[in-house]
Amino acid sequence: MTTRTSEVLDKSEVLDKGEVLREHAEDAFAAELTALAAQDDRPRPERWALSPWAVATYLLGGELPDGTVITPKYIGPRRIVEVAVTTLATDRALLLLGVPGTAKTWVSEHLAAAISGDSTLLVQGTAGTPEEAVRYGWNYAQLLAHGPSRDALVPSPVMRAMADGKIARVEELTRIPADVQDSLITILSEKTLPIPELGSETQAVRGFNLIATANDRDRGVNELSSALRRRFNTVVLPLPGSLDEEVDIVTRRVNQLGRSLDLPELPGGAEEIRRVVTVFRELRDGITTDGRTKVKTPSGTLSTAEAISVVTNGLALATHFGDGMLRAGDVTTGIVGAVLRDPVADQVVWREYVEGVIRERDGWKDFYRAARENSR
Ligand SMILES: Nc1ncnc2c1ncn2[C@@H]1O[C@H](COP(=O)(O)OP(=O)(O)OP(=O)(O)O)[C@@H](O)[C@H]1O
Ligand SMILES: [Mg+2]
Repeated sequence: MTTRTSEVLDKSEVLDKGEVLREHAEDAFAAELTALAAQDDRPRPERWALSPWAVATYLLGGELPDGTVITPKYIGPRRIVEVAVTTLATDRALLLLGVPGTAKTWVSEHLAAAISGDSTLLVQGTAGTPEEAVRYGWNYAQLLAHGPSRDALVPSPVMRAMADGKIARVEELTRIPADVQDSLITILSEKTLPIPELGSETQAVRGFNLIATANDRDRGVNELSSALRRRFNTVVLPLPGSLDEEVDIVTRRVNQLGRSLDLPELPGGAEEIRRVVTVFRELRDGITTDGRTKVKTPSGTLSTAEAISVVTNGLALATHFGDGMLRAGDVTTGIVGAVLRDPVADQVVWREYVEGVIRERDGWKDFYRAARENSR
């Protein structure tokens, strides 16, 4: 018996959703999305599951008239989310730009989930992304047996989004080779995808739009052509504005991730999160939080996302090998790993910081000791 692709695919549908390692946003937050849809009486753009207002509420959090609590997904300026959502209701596509770890991918997934109920129409951009990933490919067995036909055509996620009036997502747009990027221009300006082999085309229906993400630091890898850039509204996602805001983001995400990994919340968690975020911010900003001491910045990005994984790893260490408390030693290992990207130059930066700043800080003795131990 041969296994058809569809049989393999069907299997994933019978999986218990709770069993998958990482649920899609529309599954993980299905209850919130349903509650929002039920109580949302504002006008919805065609094929949108929610009104723009409800999409923004889904992202930013809030409380519905019936008391349902919508958890915040994105923590940051409200205006950014409003502009992003509004853009998707226009004929321009949305480009989320920012330094690594500023939640570009995260926001893009949640926007697609809230608007189309489907965040899976995704193209991952790399230097090797072929045109088929953006347009369409062919099932060669079919093509050879029956010649070019609709049945032999394998639509890309973008093509499916066009046909179904959904949101397509392109990750890391600037890494995609320029000629492949260019195939997006027709799609975004004409809202049409020509299929010359069949003498036909796929026209986008209402509801279709596209969210691309790009990393600030990658700019120049493949600079976006101005023709493509003009098809996008660019929204820049900033780094968290304050220590408290970043602590809040890390705490929420660590709790969510911890739950999905069956890690308990441990005493000491709040304090260590604050210390990790403090260290990250000081090294990133090149100055201590009291504004008194300048410090050198290491070569790594030390993003919020990395802070989240440092704490999550620390929590796992403490759970499996600790004494029931999250301690400095559980997080300093991860911090050192994040800071020492360039083994020589970053080592100097880190030493200076540990000896010059951490050592002197009130209440950080245990942290200082752990940091020294881990840096050896
Ligand atoms: N402002 C924020 N609000 C909520 N979560 C955030 C915020 N900033 C970062 N995060 C969290 O950081 C993690 C990483 O985010 P994400 O992968 O989306 O970053 P990115 O900008 O796409 O990074 P990269 O440029 O490396 O692709 C996510 O778990 C996200 O929840
Ligand atoms: Mg990303």
